[in-house]
Amino acid sequence: MVFSQENFEKLSEYIYRKSGIYLEYTKHYEKLRKQVDKRSKSEAYSSFRKYFYTLRFEDKEGVEFEELINAVTVNETYFYRENHQFEILINELLPQIDQIKGASEPIRILCAPCSTGEEPYSIALHLLEDDKIVNERDFEIIGIDIDSTVIEKAQKGLYSDRSIHALSPSIKRKYFKKKMGYNELDPDIREAITFQKANVFDKQEMSTLGKFDVIFSRNMLIYFDDASKKEVAMNFYNMLNPQGYILLGHAEYMNRIVTVFKPLQFNKQIIYQK
Ligand SMILES: C[S@@+](CC[C@H](N)C(=O)[O-])C[C@H]1O[C@@H](n2cnc3c(N)ncnc32)[C@H](O)[C@@H]1O
Repeated sequence: MVFSQENFEKLSEYIYRKSGIYLEYTKHYEKLRKQVDKRSKSEAYSSFRKYFYTLRFEDKEGVEFEELINAVTVNETYFYRENHQFEILINELLPQIDQIKGASEPIRILCAPCSTGEEPYSIALHLLEDDKIVNERDFEIIGIDIDSTVIEKAQKGLYSDRSIHALSPSIKRKYFKKKMGYNELDPDIREAITFQKANVFDKQEMSTLGKFDVIFSRNMLIYFDDASKKEVAMNFYNMLNPQGYILLGHAEYMNRIVTVFKPLQFNKQIIYQK
């Protein structure tokens, strides 16, 4: 099927509007061309026009859009990535949150996005390893991602050696079992985390998740342009409890996006507070 630069611009503009993901012709043309080609072969779309029409007007269940979005996301992640942030969470943030919360209230943590689950599971492992607060208080950890394939993988909890490379041998032994060439995470930990497919731009979906004390949003905003970053930052602001915290990836800076958060510094790391 013919997939011209004009077709690319139309499709990438649609992806941007629906997901905030910004694709460039020079870098991403081939990726989109392959995906359109694959879909036209499996669904017998005779032209780009037919494919694009179906995507926009006939895809009521969002199946075609899901196929497309799953093909363009960058899902790179691993256990204990930017581990100093989890240490700050355990040693600095959680003790403060614990002080101001009512005795029976759970501490709620959101990973948006969670990709294949390594980030929320890393938080769970840190909580278990440092049992001071987890013994006294309930936690709810929720991972969301727009890509349905990564959510399914997160729920399965089967990880490659590469994915767990940053873990110490004792943590690997304690929480993982070898299974079919993979490392399977302890089922009790898997059951403790809630995973859900959701789009951070979808205010309705976001509001049904409720309020959080901590939001991790690492390595997603870098794929958005300024207007989209701002929109998502304000969605997160509205989802945080008063004095709640947000942690970003090492190349992401909230004060360049919005000024509503207070920047705090812990061991050279900037964390943002509502
Ligand atoms: C590089 S991964 C980051 C995973 C993890 N937070 C980390 O830092 O290791 C980026 C993820 O953002 C997700 N993503 C992109 N746009 C999104 C959106 N609009 N809503 C929710 N997730 C999105 C992608 O599907 C991808 O899994």
